[in-house]
Amino acid sequence: MGTDIARAKQLLERGQLVAIPTETVYGLAANALDPLAAAAIFEAKNRPHFDPLIIHTNSLEKVLNYVEFIAPPLRKLADTFWPGPLTLLLPKKTVIPDIVSSGLDTVAVRIPKHPLTLDLLSRLDFPVAAPSANPFGYISPTTAAHVQKQLGHKVAYILDGGPSEVGLESTIAGMEENTVCVYRLGGLAISDIEAIVGPVALRINQSSNPKAPGQLKSHYAPRKPLFIGKLRELDADYNTKSVGIIAFGRFKSINPHAEIINLSESGNYQEAAANLFSALRRLDESACECIISELLPEEHLGIAINDRLKRAAAEKQDK
Ligand code: TXA
Ligand code: MG
Repeated sequence: MGTDIARAKQLLERGQLVAIPTETVYGLAANALDPLAAAAIFEAKNRPHFDPLIIHTNSLEKVLNYVEFIAPPLRKLADTFWPGPLTLLLPKKTVIPDIVSSGLDTVAVRIPKHPLTLDLLSRLDFPVAAPSANPFGYISPTTAAHVQKQLGHKVAYILDGGPSEVGLESTIAGMEENTVCVYRLGGLAISDIEAIVGPVALRINQSSNPKAPGQLKSHYAPRKPLFIGKLRELDADYNTKSVGIIAFGRFKSINPHAEIINLSESGNYQEAAANLFSALRRLDESACECIISELLPEEHLGIAINDRLKRAAAEKQDK
């Protein structure tokens, strides 16, 4: 673990796995043009092979080496939000191995916004494929320590870029016919996308979709049960137990055994997003028996935060 970009570069060039910081979450990176290196990602994550990966690079010019074209509305989004928490599904060129796209004819592409990683990517002559650096189904890592704890023994190096500023995975968008579609809610709010390209279609699948397990109903999930409802009522119901509480805005528990994490006392969505995954991890690792929380107002990043909370609370049968 450290900030040695030259070392990260050398390891990636040798086909090894390196964890990289991004503004959304930490990624588990490998050379996206090397099928064997990409295969090692699935192995390390225990991830089903049908789940396609996102490729990361540092410039639009390089992106055009890997995709056939960028439809004008998506190009507008790229120009506006890259580097940033937006992934675009684009028709892939044949240089992208099938293992990366899971045999689909599109590839997911993103230019992440993190100085260390942009520096690293600018020194590489290939893109890196990188899913979130967590074991399949668990909460995504937002610090180098999270990665170290769960995948430390499986990666050659962890590039430590501090805590992820956004804290939610990227928003995934693509085109169907002439419409911009959003497939995963994430760190870029739908309202920000619509301000650039007008109304978008939501294709967020709540059920098990083999093409996009990030969309599995139970995903991003702690091991402990998480209950969502009216927080005051849950707090009263669980008053005698040791519970973990994830609150948003002003909240005071009546439970002397509660461990409370407030995502943002001032009710700021960005701050809440940046704190969400760390909060889930901390309570999962603490002594509490279960976690209680409530949904945020359905606006701006509150929508994506609620999506993650609901998935974290879902029954684990379809994981
Ligand atoms: O913020 C992020 O996007 C992070 C950082 C590391 O960049 N990465 C990330 O990757 O969240 P991952 O693999 O955990 O999630 C990628 C999602 C998956 O749900 C996958 O199924 C979907 O993107 N995906 C990738 N390529 C796709 C494609 N061609 N068509 C449809 N979905 C795709
Ligand atoms: Mg993931």
